[in-house]
Amino acid sequence: MLHATDFAENEYQDIYSGHLGGRTLPKFVIPREPSDPRTVYALIRDELALDGNSAQNLATFCTTWTEPEIHRLMDDCLGKNMIDKDEYPQTAEIESRCVHILANLWNSPSGARTIGCSTTGSSEAAMLAGLALKWRWRGAGRPNLVCGPVQVCWEKFARYFDVELRQVPLEPGATGLRPNQLRDHVDENTIGVVAILGVTYTCDYEPVAALAAELDAIQADTGLDIPLHVDAASGGFIAPFVQPELEWDFRIPRVASINSSGHKYGLAPLGVGWVVWRTADLLPEELVFRVDYLGGEMPTFALNFSRPAGEIVAQYYNFLRLGRAGYTAIQRVCLDTAAHLAGQIERMGPFTLLYGGDGALPAVCYTTTEDAGFSLYDLSTQLRIKGWQVPSYPLPANRQETVVQRVLVRHGISRDVVSLLAQDIRRGIKELTGVSPKRRQVGFHH
Ligand SMILES: Cc1ncc(COP(=O)(O)O)c(C=O)c1O
Repeated sequence: MLHATDFAENEYQDIYSGHLGGRTLPKFVIPREPSDPRTVYALIRDELALDGNSAQNLATFCTTWTEPEIHRLMDDCLGKNMIDKDEYPQTAEIESRCVHILANLWNSPSGARTIGCSTTGSSEAAMLAGLALKWRWRGAGRPNLVCGPVQVCWEKFARYFDVELRQVPLEPGATGLRPNQLRDHVDENTIGVVAILGVTYTCDYEPVAALAAELDAIQADTGLDIPLHVDAASGGFIAPFVQPELEWDFRIPRVASINSSGHKYGLAPLGVGWVVWRTADLLPEELVFRVDYLGGEMPTFALNFSRPAGEIVAQYYNFLRLGRAGYTAIQRVCLDTAAHLAGQIERMGPFTLLYGGDGALPAVCYTTTEDAGFSLYDLSTQLRIKGWQVPSYPLPANRQETVVQRVLVRHGISRDVVSLLAQDIRRGIKELTGVSPKRRQVGFHH
């Protein structure tokens, strides 16, 4: 008897009855023969369909929606390596423009002359900023870096580059590092303090200006001149547009460097971050590898060598396409949507908000009330049944007893989408407790 797979592949072959479609795909050994590209594409695409739906991934800060023109630019840049600055001088020029635009956006005293570079994301940017701090420090003991509840990239920096990470525990009720905590943790071996504009756990901002003022006071009292780095992975593309009065950036003289993720609220596709130094002298010469074929204007300071160029070009596209007004409109709507969701969550009854989408990132962070009668982990599972990815996790030390859930609102997450999420949160609670949150709330009022 003949099997469909016995026929030689031809251009009319059906995808699912061809020699690949009728078998399980090779998983450990490269196949001997080539295959029809349409078939391979279709089969890989089928497998990828089993991933979560990125539009329902409310755990990520990263871009999940982009305009068709960005898809085209990414395609145009597919063959370009951003490190080949002599072969692709215009791509290098575009990277340089983005650095200066960001320096200006972050109120650098000399935006057109500051130094900075693109990176793969905020993690690499954090490593570079940390390295510059370490290089400039002139202490004799083991270097340390002081911070609050940082993202894992700072733990990696400390481990990889042999720096003691002094992570200051959260005070009761606090969502991040507080100025009064600094004095007990800094000393002559502190290479810098990291302030976070958009704490990963709670999405609130740390008080950068107050932290800087405390470092000023510490310098006045002890002579220690400790630089401040701002990890604005998310907030760097939010605050300038929707909280322009908030002083967190180079307006504060103590802020030596800032990192941000282009692929988060910068709205570029995945794979781009930025780090900018206040002035060129803050980036030690020894760390910079200069390329002379561009007149030495763009320093090479990166952990990687080859890197795709498309996401950098897409970042520039966004700057031109959206302008300040466009970014402001998008981030404003995201904040309004987050605040709307926070209101719905608060009204349900069994939640206490830690952060309600006002004043910092477009996000909501909440915990359960003591008598809620269900766990947030179980609620996450209930939401997953409907395709939503909403993470639950404990806060860092010393608030580990508080488990929170976090929803990130970003470009493409509409008010309607969060209303549907709220509906599914209510449904999940009913499933877990047998009582719908609305009725429970009426009960409270009577
Ligand atoms: C505060 C903060 N810093 C750094 C990072 C790491 O950024 P990236 O994913 O761009 O490497 C994140 C990611 O969530 C973050 O929230």
